[in-house]
Amino acid sequence: MKLKLEKIRLDMEKSYLCFIDEWKKYNEKIIPVSALLDGKKYSEFVAYTKNMETNAPSGFVNATTLFLTLDDEIIGAISIRHSLNKYLFDFGGHIGYGIKPSKRKCGYAKSMVKMSFPILKELGLTTVLITCHASNIASAKTIESLGGILENISTDENNIQYKRYWLDV
Ligand SMILES: CC(C)(COP(=O)(O)OP(=O)(O)OC[C@H]1O[C@@H](n2cnc3c(N)ncnc32)[C@H](O)[C@@H]1OP(=O)(O)O)[C@@H](O)C(=O)NCCC(=O)NCCS
Repeated sequence: MKLKLEKIRLDMEKSYLCFIDEWKKYNEKIIPVSALLDGKKYSEFVAYTKNMETNAPSGFVNATTLFLTLDDEIIGAISIRHSLNKYLFDFGGHIGYGIKPSKRKCGYAKSMVKMSFPILKELGLTTVLITCHASNIASAKTIESLGGILENISTDENNIQYKRYWLDV
């Protein structure tokens, strides 16, 4: 079994569609949202994702989205924001990630975040902010088990609380 962190490519369409279908089947919203087609055709999504790395639209920071593959199956995704704007500093963090429902509790989230460390370093990020909803035990445990240090809990305008952790990579 080979675990890899990969950028999305045109030849990954079948696996990508299975990935997003599974989240739908479990009635869950995909996290990170950058892994969503969001009304685009697959080929447009591939181009858009690449473009986001260097040329994000106004209001967004440049970001890299990577997919965790197990052999040829996409099982997770991670979004790496290259910098923080005010919203990301307060609530969103540098990294957002998700593992598809059928592959959870097998250590894949921890592996995926660890596998992103070299990419974070290449981007010049040595300490990153990772946040999660205060009620998201699985995500908090993932961050804590990687050595994340809780700074505080912030509350957004909808009264949602976010745990804010800093993690050395
Ligand atoms: C959060 C999420 C990414 C964790 O993925 P995962 O692959 O199941 O996590 P791992 O197997 O690597 O486990 C990481 C830690 O969380 C714990 N954990 C995982 N799922 C858990 C759960 N449902 N309840 C309690 N603890 C849980 C594991 O025991 C492990 O802790 P440990 O190191 O102390 O043993 C996954 O649940 C998910 O995709 N959720 C939906 C999207 C999401 O919430 N993303 C995070 C946004 S901040």
